[in-house]
Amino acid sequence: MYNKIKLPYAFDALEPYIDEETVRTHYEKHLNTYETNLNKALEGYEEYTKGKTLDQLIKDIEDLPEEIRPAVVNNGGGVSNHNLYFSILSPNPKKEPTGKLLDEINKTFGSLENLKEELTNASITQFGSGYGFLVKDKDGKLSIVKRVNQNSPVMDNLIPILTIDVWEHAYYLKYKNLRADYVKNIWNVIDWEKVQGLYEDCHNI
Ligand SMILES: [Fe+2]
Repeated sequence: MYNKIKLPYAFDALEPYIDEETVRTHYEKHLNTYETNLNKALEGYEEYTKGKTLDQLIKDIEDLPEEIRPAVVNNGGGVSNHNLYFSILSPNPKKEPTGKLLDEINKTFGSLENLKEELTNASITQFGSGYGFLVKDKDGKLSIVKRVNQNSPVMDNLIPILTIDVWEHAYYLKYKNLRADYVKNIWNVIDWEKVQGLYEDCHNI
């Protein structure tokens, strides 16, 4: 049984950048559906999930019987990606990273501003539904990737530490077709304390 995270703030806490109705529907309806469908797909396959985190299950997708792989990629990815997304947002975010993460950002991107610009562009230009991600590899090297639908970077041995959900359900009620405005605004509620914690966490997938 794999679960969605408990939302660490109220539905209206991210206003005015992300509106209450969107957070409520996104968390209670969309994420709920991924969670329900994932666990339904895994019914009867308990031997494959024993002792595995959700990300391990997704990363080792080839170990699963073929008939449930698409459901795990889509719904397992749906739970994992959303759990990350909701966890790195906060009404009282730390506005900038410090320490090791900031050093690595400066080394890789030149500056925090450059990173933000690159991830903003990756997210805006993700064709159709998907996500922009800041990921680290096993050596702590950072990069920006985008993925379609609910595909997770863990399938490529990358650990996502920040993500921007650009499915229309993440912004359409407030921003309509203006994805770029949503992506630019989301930086106001991205909590670098959380991102930094994930960067410094030395566990692998
Ligand atoms: Fe979403």
